Amino acid sequence: MAPPLTSAPDVSRKARPTDFRFRCITCGGVTDDAAQNFRCTNCGDLLEITYPRWKETKPNADQLKSTWKQRRLSLDSVDLSGVWRFRELLPEVSDEAVITLREGNTPLYDLPHCARITGVPRLFAKHQGLNPTGSFKDAGMTVAATFARLAGFRWVACASTGNTSASMAAYAARGGLRSLVLVPEGKISWSKLSQALDYGAVTCQLRTDFDGCLKLLQELVLRAPVYQLNSINPFRLEGQKTLALELLEQLDWQPPDHIIVPGGNLGNSSAIGKALLEMHALGLISRLPRLSVIQAEGANALVRTLREADGKRLVSVHAETRATAIRIGNPASWKKAVHVLAATGGACEQVTEIEIAQAKAEIGAEGIGCEPASAVTLAGLKKLLQQGFVKPQESVVLVLTGNLLKDPDFTMEFHRGALLKDTGDQDASAALKPLRRPPIVLDATLDAVIRTLEQAEKS
Ligand code: F0G
Repeated sequence: MAPPLTSAPDVSRKARPTDFRFRCITCGGVTDDAAQNFRCTNCGDLLEITYPRWKETKPNADQLKSTWKQRRLSLDSVDLSGVWRFRELLPEVSDEAVITLREGNTPLYDLPHCARITGVPRLFAKHQGLNPTGSFKDAGMTVAATFARLAGFRWVACASTGNTSASMAAYAARGGLRSLVLVPEGKISWSKLSQALDYGAVTCQLRTDFDGCLKLLQELVLRAPVYQLNSINPFRLEGQKTLALELLEQLDWQPPDHIIVPGGNLGNSSAIGKALLEMHALGLISRLPRLSVIQAEGANALVRTLREADGKRLVSVHAETRATAIRIGNPASWKKAVHVLAATGGACEQVTEIEIAQAKAEIGAEGIGCEPASAVTLAGLKKLLQQGFVKPQESVVLVLTGNLLKDPDFTMEFHRGALLKDTGDQDASAALKPLRRPPIVLDATLDAVIRTLEQAEKS
């Protein structure tokens, strides 16, 4: 019989000598042990992972690049992971301890269609939606789930807008752990919810929003021996750093001018920014790309935090957007995001629901597609171009965070013309019309199909 839910193991216990430490992002306090809620015991702010070993012996950039390249020929399970292949920049762990689904290894696509639309010839997409569970969360989850099991936890838990829960449930199942999911009732897509169910999570639909779920989880981890796998957990962000490492490797270590990422709880932008700063400090890249964050207008806490409070205090919002993955009003990692935006010279912008829908259809027309939250990147790029922040001759990478199949309702409503029809914005609706490809119901005759083909040829 399974042991009862009584005492909690130590979240930071490591079955090996310490090779990393936790540092508070506000007071700078450094410890070997993190509290159950991954918050500083002095000031309550978030922790980040640092590597004192790099101070003593700085890793050699050329050697790292060559080791990582070599590993692409290996058949070892850890080398086949696009996360653990970069393990010199991650907390150390034995190969056998790793829980992996061969995450990472995601393609970098060029976007000729969107390049024409925007007038930016060197436009690329790093498609994290091609991870095992269909989102960028897998890159962080392999690391954090591994450390959860190492620390002796039996239960892992998260609050989620859908993708974190799908990913956590999968990695927990692979690692023989139980998982508890807290999601806002009626506010996440069925695709994501169904993943969590199939991977065996105990799934609670709470009558609140994401922010309410996360608040409750933070209290829960102090009362019950569950390991929290939200991006407050700094191990998650270490794994998500590898998105940037893999990207730069794909670009032969020539930094793009801009990287543009969607912002929700702001873990991913923080992780990418941390990776860029570390790569720069270690000499892996010679200059920093500008990292910009784009939010939905209805969930624009970071935009307002920067505009109204100069990044000094969080301006929370009541979040509302059809891009449900980023329907977050009280982002946990806002301070980390403010820091990396300033350090890389990036911008923060917001885009409307119509702009998101249009950009999503344009990325779909490339033959790769993405979920609505990912499409804010293209919509945001258009704004940054108008403002002159991005110049047409510069190179730009959009981080597509989730797979098209994550939110089929949005896509179907868009093509059927039912999406956002209550906005009353006739002009915007007209702009979307040419992008719509509604399904056509016909009699099953050759004539009917040929007529449809001829009509389509003319349009
Ligand atoms: N894009 C997608 C597809 C997401 O699922 C999320 C966040 C984001 C962007 C924003 O990333 O939070 O690191 O700023 N999804 C979380 C979840 C919150 O629970 O799945 P962020």
